[in-house]
Amino acid sequence: MQYPTFTKEHKSLMSKHLSEDIFNKLNTLNTSSFFTLEQAINSGIKNPDSGIGVYAGDEESYKVFEDLFDPIIEEYHGFAKDDKHQSNLDANDLIAPNPDVKGKYIISTRIRVGRNLKNIPLGPAISDEQRLEVEKLVSKELSNFENDLSGTYYPLDGMSEKDKNTLIEDHFLFKTGDRFLESAGLNKDWPKGRGIYHNDEKTFLVWINEEDQLRIISMQNGGNIKEVFQRLCKAIQKLEENMSFSFNEHLGYITSCPTNLGTAMRASVHIKLPNLAQNMKEFEKITNKYYLQIRGIHGEHSQSEDGIFDISNKRRLGVTEVQCVQDMYDGVVALIKKEQEF
Ligand code: ARG
Repeated sequence: MQYPTFTKEHKSLMSKHLSEDIFNKLNTLNTSSFFTLEQAINSGIKNPDSGIGVYAGDEESYKVFEDLFDPIIEEYHGFAKDDKHQSNLDANDLIAPNPDVKGKYIISTRIRVGRNLKNIPLGPAISDEQRLEVEKLVSKELSNFENDLSGTYYPLDGMSEKDKNTLIEDHFLFKTGDRFLESAGLNKDWPKGRGIYHNDEKTFLVWINEEDQLRIISMQNGGNIKEVFQRLCKAIQKLEENMSFSFNEHLGYITSCPTNLGTAMRASVHIKLPNLAQNMKEFEKITNKYYLQIRGIHGEHSQSEDGIFDISNKRRLGVTEVQCVQDMYDGVVALIKKEQEF
């Protein structure tokens, strides 16, 4: 392909870091699953409003195209080329007594991680057969889950209207036709191989073959953040008994989007903060101090409504899972304290 023409509209880290020299050096390369630079940057070219604008097709992409990925990872995560990542999924190390026992502020808590199977290409480069293979492996593993984790797998392909409506009402169904994923090649052969597992209480979910092969999710109403983390750690451990996830010492858990590398974790609460909503400066002072991101409650690019916010950890790479949740927890405690001062 030719060097892409970036316009004023292109705001991504990809467009910032892909110089013509780097482009020429990487343009002819491919990984062993035949993933190319053209595929990696397509989403950022087609969606000029991308913040990142690049996806990996496999673990090897991060090496073969490192001249592009490294500066992006460094800028997004503040993580240098020879830094090492460390994992800690021991929930005992988290200090998090419920900061809102009366349930005045925290509506719900949700923690997810992304995972991909070792030696299988990531979503942007996976073949249709491999995608089905992942679905089969993971859903089979989940069918052995017991007690509070026991549940049902709902494949998207051929899902009944009734199941679909219930999953939509509960905000469990992932969105269809996301344009960033579409141009990254992540919606190929949709909806085959995609689906959602959840336990009977709907506090433990696994999305199969969305942006990552697995998104493992623990959630419940209220502010018992530790309980949510404990359930997640238990489920991850159980999955790892019989399958190996793609991980390396430098980048941690390998994900298709470089923003998720490391812990691949997003720990969040939906929280009512009507006073702070009127004082965004104070609000952001706290979220910046605790490395938190503020969103609306209707997904990634949504605005806040009625003073309800989605607050989550921003750091993921070079910090442990426990630290990610601790950042979120400590920030939430500080936010509630400030909210009460008005
Ligand atoms: N590719 C999109 C962008 O560059 C999303 C990046 C982060 N979000 C995600 N779901 N991976 O803006």
